Amino acid sequence: MKLGFIGAGNMGSALISACLGNGYPAKDLIVSVNTEASRSRLSTCFAGVQFMSNQQVAAECDVLFLAVKPFIMPIVMQDIAATLQAHPKLIVSVATGLMLDYYAEHLGSDCPVVRAMPNTPVQVGFGFTGLLANQAVQADHKEWVTQLFSQLGDTTWVQTDDAIDQITALSGSGPAYFFYLFDAMHQVAMDMGFDPKTAKHLTLKTVEGALQLSEKSEQSFLQLRQAVTAKRGTTEAALSVLEAGSVQYTFQKAIVAAYNRARVISSEHNK
Ligand SMILES: NC(=O)c1ccc[n+]([C@@H]2O[C@H](COP(=O)([O-])OP(=O)(O)OC[C@H]3O[C@@H](n4cnc5c(N)ncnc54)[C@H](OP(=O)(O)O)[C@@H]3O)[C@@H](O)[C@H]2O)c1
Repeated sequence: MKLGFIGAGNMGSALISACLGNGYPAKDLIVSVNTEASRSRLSTCFAGVQFMSNQQVAAECDVLFLAVKPFIMPIVMQDIAATLQAHPKLIVSVATGLMLDYYAEHLGSDCPVVRAMPNTPVQVGFGFTGLLANQAVQADHKEWVTQLFSQLGDTTWVQTDDAIDQITALSGSGPAYFFYLFDAMHQVAMDMGFDPKTAKHLTLKTVEGALQLSEKSEQSFLQLRQAVTAKRGTTEAALSVLEAGSVQYTFQKAIVAAYNRARVISSEHNK
């Protein structure tokens, strides 16, 4: 089976790594990028993969991954539409904001399309990917896609484009929310006199410990928080500052703002 990739930046490269990790030989991977510089870099990272034009990739592959920026997609559609209308094949697109109808309009409704919304931790195998299929996608396609994205972390199938916008705001943008908090703790630790390496280490180990405890415990996040919050203790002192600043409410508003933005982007791209 030949796997085609149009776009091989952050996301496309993670997908190529997953396919290689899943046992697909490099010679069966066909890639299209825009610049000679990327071709040269990628042929070093992924020795043995073939490089072709968008039209050739669409014609030669059995499954096609689309991993270009949404504003590039009209160019790509122009290059591949005729081939896919004549010979529908499974498309897996990671492009943000392009709904299933967008692909049906360009490629025809017989073309099986999966929308995937991964996040950046897919690059290290700890991502979370939301998946949405159109009517033409078969059960065996879904199984294949699930297995592939499982190489990159966890997955969940959703039923609507709107749910993909929600996933975008939660797990898609989510890593940045936590990097924001990690950065705050790292800064304070350094202000207290810890060297940058130790400050980073204690920040990450605290996060990892909280994560492991949350995963292994039967208790809710609220109960876990209460368990470290003794009356008049240090955690209570910290939490009272967070509460006074309405930090939890602001954090929730931030996620809703990301969701609203995802909806606006979707409506702009699907006019
Ligand atoms: N990064 C994320 O966290 C994330 C998460 C979820 C979804 N996404 C979505 O994934 C998609 C890709 O994002 P990315 O971060 O991987 O982008 P990226 O790193 O900028 O990569 C874009 C790729 O598209 C190629 N390309 C540009 N024009 C092309 C053309 N006309 N024909 C063929 N290939 C072309 C580029 O090639 P050159 O390098 O040669 O220009 C590059 O390989 C976007 O739609 C993004 O919204 C990203």
